Amino acid sequence: MVNRIVLNKISYHGKGAIKEIVGEINNQGYKKVFVATDPDLIKFNVSTKVTDLLDQNSIAYEVYSDIKPNPTIENVQNGVEAFKKSGADCIVAIGGGSSIDTSKAIGIIIANPEFEDVRSLEGEAETKNASVPIIAVPTTAGTAAEVTINYVITDTEKERKFVCADPNDIPLIAVVDPDMMSSMPKGLTAATGMDALTHAIEGYITKGAWEMTDMFHLEAIRLISENLRGAVNNEQKGREGMALAQYIAGMGFSNVGLGIDHSMAHTLSAHYDVAHGVACAMFLPIVMEFNRDYTGERYKEIARAMGVDGVDQMKQDQYRQAAIDAVEKLSIDVGIPTKLDKIKEEDLDTLATDALNDACYGGNPREATKEEVIAMFRKLMD
Ligand SMILES: NC(=O)c1ccc[n+]([C@@H]2O[C@H](COP(=O)([O-])OP(=O)(O)OC[C@H]3O[C@@H](n4cnc5c(N)ncnc54)[C@H](O)[C@@H]3O)[C@@H](O)[C@H]2O)c1
Ligand SMILES: [Fe+2]
Repeated sequence: MVNRIVLNKISYHGKGAIKEIVGEINNQGYKKVFVATDPDLIKFNVSTKVTDLLDQNSIAYEVYSDIKPNPTIENVQNGVEAFKKSGADCIVAIGGGSSIDTSKAIGIIIANPEFEDVRSLEGEAETKNASVPIIAVPTTAGTAAEVTINYVITDTEKERKFVCADPNDIPLIAVVDPDMMSSMPKGLTAATGMDALTHAIEGYITKGAWEMTDMFHLEAIRLISENLRGAVNNEQKGREGMALAQYIAGMGFSNVGLGIDHSMAHTLSAHYDVAHGVACAMFLPIVMEFNRDYTGERYKEIARAMGVDGVDQMKQDQYRQAAIDAVEKLSIDVGIPTKLDKIKEEDLDTLATDALNDACYGGNPREATKEEVIAMFRKLMD
C-alpha cells in the first residue's frame, strides 16, 4: 500500500505572517500580481491589509473581486478573462474558501486552457500543467483551501456544486495569519470552525485514513475543541488556535478525502445557498450517528480529543455516544442552528440523489441507500 501526501511548498503561520508575502514575491521574481478576493473583504478592509503591503513595496497588482460565496462557473470564467488581460504572472488569493477555490480554478485553466468550460474539471481531471503560482491567504478558519488539492465550484444552471481534486492546483505558498481572521463576525467564525471540525472528523473516519493523516486529524480535533469557543469570542488565543487547527485538518483530509456529511452539505448549499460551514455543522452529529457502528474504536479517540474524561473506562457504546454528544454540544455552544426550514418535501428525492453522486460520498465508511440519505435530510426538517 502506497500513500501520497501533497502539501504546500512553503507555509507561514502566526500573527504578522502576511509581511512575508512581499519577500516571497520578490524572491520568486514575480512581476505582477493578480489579487483575487471578494467584495465584502474589500469593503471591510480585510484584503487591504495585504494590498497596502504591495503598495508600500511598489509591487504591481490588479484586483479581481467578482467572487460570491459558493463561487460559480461564471466567477471562474470572468476571472480567467480578467487574468489574461492583466498580464499578471502569479495570483495572491485573499479570502475564505470561495476566493481561494476560484483562484485555483482560474490558475488551472490559464495553465491548461483545454479545461476552459470549467465543468470538465470535476473529479480528478487529468490536467498536465501546474496552476499559475498561487500565494493563498485565508481570512476564514475553516476550509483550509490554502493547503488542499481540492476546490468546489457551483453550477447554478444544474443547481449543483462539484468538487475538483487535482494536485496541480495546490497553492505554492500558504500564509496563515490569524490577524486576517479577526474581523470575522461570530456566526462566520462558528460556521467555518465547524467546517474544520467536520473535515477533521470525516477525514479521521474516512476509508483511506492512515497513520499520518490520523495524526493531523486528531490534533486538529483537539485544537478545535480547545479554541473554537474562544475564537467565536474573538480572543487572540482562540483565533491563533483555530488558524492552525483548520490548516492541520487540511493537511490530512486533502490527502485522504471526506465522507457523506460533505456530500449532503454540498447538495444543501447548491439548492438553497446555505453557507458551507453551517451545512456541514448541521449534519455532523446526524452523520456521526449514522456511521457510529462502522468506526471501530475511532470514536474513542475523537471523544478523547474533544476533551471527554474517562474514555478508557467507557464501553464502546458509551464512548461513541460521548463523542457525538461532545460534538453536538460544541455546535450548540457556538450557535449553529439544528433545523433548516428551507428544505421542501418535494426536493428530498433530488437532494438524496445529488448527495450520493457527490465525489465525497465514496470516502464514507458506511454505504447509504437513498432512503437513508432522505432520512438524514429529514432530520433537519422536523
Ligand atoms: N478547497 C477546499 O478544500 C474546500 C474545503 C471546504 C469547503 N470549500 C468551499 O469553500 C467555500 C466556503 O468558504 P468559507 O467558508 O471560507 O467562506 P467564503 O469564502 O464563502 O466567505 C463567506 C463570507 O465571509 C466573508 N468573510 C471572509 N473572511 C472574512 C473576514 N476575515 N472578515 C469578515 N468577513 C469575512 C466573505 O466576504 C464572504 O461574504 C464553499 O464554496 C465550500 O464548498 C473548499
Ligand atoms: Fe468543508
